[in-house]
Amino acid sequence: MQHPENSFDAIIIGGGAAGLMCALTAGNRGRRVLLLEVSNKLGKKILMSGGGRCNFTNLDISADNFICENRHFVKSALSQYTQWDFIAMVDNHGVAWHDKQQGQLFCDNSSKDILQMLTTECQQAGVEILLNCEVAAVSVAGGDWRIETNLGRFAAAKLVVATGGLSIPTLGGATGLGYRIARQFGLFSNQTDASLVPFTLTGKWQEFSSALSGVSLPVEVSVPRKSFSESLLFTHRGLSGPAILQLSNYWYAGEQLTIDLLPGVDAAAHLLATKKSHPNSTISSVLINYLPKSLVHALQRQWWSSTDETDATLHNFKNHQLLEIGSHLNCWRITPAGTEGYRTAEVTRGGVDVSGISSKTMQVNEVEGLYIIGEVLDVTGHLGGYNFQWAWSTGYVAGTNI
Ligand code: FDA
Repeated sequence: MQHPENSFDAIIIGGGAAGLMCALTAGNRGRRVLLLEVSNKLGKKILMSGGGRCNFTNLDISADNFICENRHFVKSALSQYTQWDFIAMVDNHGVAWHDKQQGQLFCDNSSKDILQMLTTECQQAGVEILLNCEVAAVSVAGGDWRIETNLGRFAAAKLVVATGGLSIPTLGGATGLGYRIARQFGLFSNQTDASLVPFTLTGKWQEFSSALSGVSLPVEVSVPRKSFSESLLFTHRGLSGPAILQLSNYWYAGEQLTIDLLPGVDAAAHLLATKKSHPNSTISSVLINYLPKSLVHALQRQWWSSTDETDATLHNFKNHQLLEIGSHLNCWRITPAGTEGYRTAEVTRGGVDVSGISSKTMQVNEVEGLYIIGEVLDVTGHLGGYNFQWAWSTGYVAGTNI
């Protein structure tokens, strides 16, 4: 027999962004809600996000900012709870924020303000929270969900899975439980990969990047399906920066990337024209007007190697050589060895296939009372506050339906 004290209207597994939003929404509707969190703290990723200032949403949100096999799937949740709704909550709590760039909204002070806001809302809504709670088994009988945990058995009419992805395993929340529950109830999980993650290089390009570690510049990076114009950052292990993180959402192992180091400049045409007008200029002296000096010298060793600067004057190069150097600069093709993996990834690409989920309610189509929200679903946002907006929107939608 289930003790009535352990019976709830809804149990939410996962006290991160989506779970907290779902809990406060359902609690505010008068539902008796239990939130189970495996780790010792709520919202750890909120706290570490945005370099400690949480890029909590973006002014410009559309389906184009999300990767999902069904690109229409995200539309309903994003329109039921928009960035403006979340901004209104943030404003109600007096959390100061700013538009850092390109509509990316960050806290002025600390990510703690966002977590504090969500936990205050949960408290006011009467949400019961259990930390360090490990779920051992989930079952359903006669429309009643039963959850067995290390802290006891609980029952509810509705179960929400908000267990997030697999990134940053050291936080203790990368349990994969959400994927297992989905499989248990007949849903597919698509391949999961670390995403919004730096690339690693090997061999001479790793040495090249390592020597330039900390150097950053605006570039355009592409894989066949997508390109991004943002900053690239060289690291000891390879390539990072917003342009690379964005591209990692679209990159598959073994694929080549193309990097335009001089976006908007036709490097070959520029070198040929300068050869005519200033034949005694060196390639480096031309490029230093556009690129960091250390990068130009490192590129020289790769693409127009010369120990003697005077040899690198433009008149010493045949036109076809300048065309080739120009083409390297505008179209540097490089194949990453891999990514830094879940250790540093911001998100998990892939996850629970959305074809089995109602986009309007987040309920599993074939399983009454089971809801799946947030990053555990096969929906991945671009860098820039989109992943949190997905968590807020889906959390709200499930919270209004349980
Ligand atoms: P989230 O991971 O937030 O929460 C899942 C919760 O479930 C966790 O608390 C976990 O411990 C718990 N859990 C897991 N298994 C469980 C189990 N078996 N039982 C009970 N609980 C369990 N996004 C963005 O939009 N802007 C940003 O600035 C950033 N910055 C950023 C930085 C870093 C370093 C990372 C790692 C990630 C980001 N993100 C981001 C991504 C963002 O943090 C992420 O997409 C959301 O937190 C996803 O929200 P969820 O609630 O789905 O998962």
